[in-house]
Amino acid sequence: MVSRVIPVDDFDLVIFGGTGDLARRKILPGLFRRFRSGQMPADSRIIGAARSELDTSGYRAMIREAIVEFGGDEKSDTDTLDQFLNALEYVAIDAKGEGGWSELKSLIRDKVIKAFYFSVAPSLFGDLAERLHAHEIADADSRIVVEKPFGRDLASAQALNATLAEHFDERQIYRIDHYLGKETVQNLMAVRFGNVLFEPLWNSHYVDHIQITVAETVGVGGRGGYYDKSGAMRDMVQNHLMQLLCLIAMEPPSVFGANEVRDEKLKVIRALQPVEAHHIVRGQYDASDDAASYRADVENPRSFTESFVAMKCHVSNWRWSDTPFYLRTGKKMKARTSEIAVVFKDLGHKMFEGDSARHRNILAIRLQPNEGMDLQVTIKEPGPGGMRLIDVPLDMTFADALGDDAEDATDAYERLIMDVIRGNQTLFMRGDEVEAAWAWTDPIIEGWEARNDVPKLYDAGSAGPDDAMMLMHRDGRRWRDIKG
Ligand code: BG6
Repeated sequence: MVSRVIPVDDFDLVIFGGTGDLARRKILPGLFRRFRSGQMPADSRIIGAARSELDTSGYRAMIREAIVEFGGDEKSDTDTLDQFLNALEYVAIDAKGEGGWSELKSLIRDKVIKAFYFSVAPSLFGDLAERLHAHEIADADSRIVVEKPFGRDLASAQALNATLAEHFDERQIYRIDHYLGKETVQNLMAVRFGNVLFEPLWNSHYVDHIQITVAETVGVGGRGGYYDKSGAMRDMVQNHLMQLLCLIAMEPPSVFGANEVRDEKLKVIRALQPVEAHHIVRGQYDASDDAASYRADVENPRSFTESFVAMKCHVSNWRWSDTPFYLRTGKKMKARTSEIAVVFKDLGHKMFEGDSARHRNILAIRLQPNEGMDLQVTIKEPGPGGMRLIDVPLDMTFADALGDDAEDATDAYERLIMDVIRGNQTLFMRGDEVEAAWAWTDPIIEGWEARNDVPKLYDAGSAGPDDAMMLMHRDGRRWRDIKG
């Protein structure tokens, strides 16, 4: 199988925060891979803009190091890397003052696509947007890209949306949720709407429940300051898990268009019922073996922030009225795995004599690692001696199915940046979607705060607090094992 690479139109991309962690780890290594594949035109330019007093050659040297360290590939030859680095420029800029803006303007070309990546604190979005306009650097066709966290509650998200709207139309704003750029996440839509097999069964008549798990083995790393003020609910559930839930639960859009898809996702978020307090478990990892506790990691011995959340939610519409969605995410868990499991109902009638076991079809979609799907089906146990049934997985690992192409699969960021240049907003969150997600999340967090809720401790390296198991067991169900 040979993947098709269609070059995008010529562009100038300005990365505000161009020396930052995200730019060095993800954005620039991703752009380099798109350059190497032929998708980024050789004439296009990337302009790093940040506070540091660097010059272009210093910036190129910094990005060379970043690509070697984080690029994650051995295929690149030095010539290609040199050519890519030649497309880079640097401007030292003062986001709140006038320094650097005329220089930036002089670097931007007419008649190419212009994109501005705000890889900076949200408190600077307004200043940047205002200066891009005041200096006539952005035009009516320019795009801006913003990262999460998009607010920390409904009010702050509304304020950010209003700030951006002063200078840009919604069609120019690309709010990144990098989960939407993951290959298998998009595959959710292909599986549901590109096959005749699943959609007729995709409802509460046939689906017993759905489990969404995003388990990480990492702790809070060097981001303790940010994380301790956010917690898993704001950091993961309000955005990544919510997006997965939307793609699983939404109605088929009439066409695969940006607004049609986002309209359907919005309907799901608005149909989510408020979550009852006893349907949520908050957890915080404790020290175990040689792993430090959450509190030690964030250097806050009195922290009550959650590093784990498990919850049961209901999407209150015709399709899903009786099917619960169980969501679970946590840090320092026993394995790194993200998967969605659609657990179908038991057969109504058992016709095989002597078979008292419970057989269920389960469609498990693995987002990472080892992307793929497996469908648990019931078959006859091979051998003589009657009709004994067993459950086996029909396993499709994308790496096997796609052969060499799997190796070249694009990382979420590179795919999303190319979509910005193409002007395709399908995989980006619309302002009303983000606000609706906060409107659902806020009361949950406010409830915890009002009750001074204390998270349940779980051992680092485990599957989370016992109460999370009980959340399922009480309903006669069980979580799938967390295995990498
Ligand atoms: C980020 C969160 O958005 O997603 C991090 O802020 C988390 O806390 C990360 O670790 C997980 O992303 P991925 O792609 O590694 O699953």
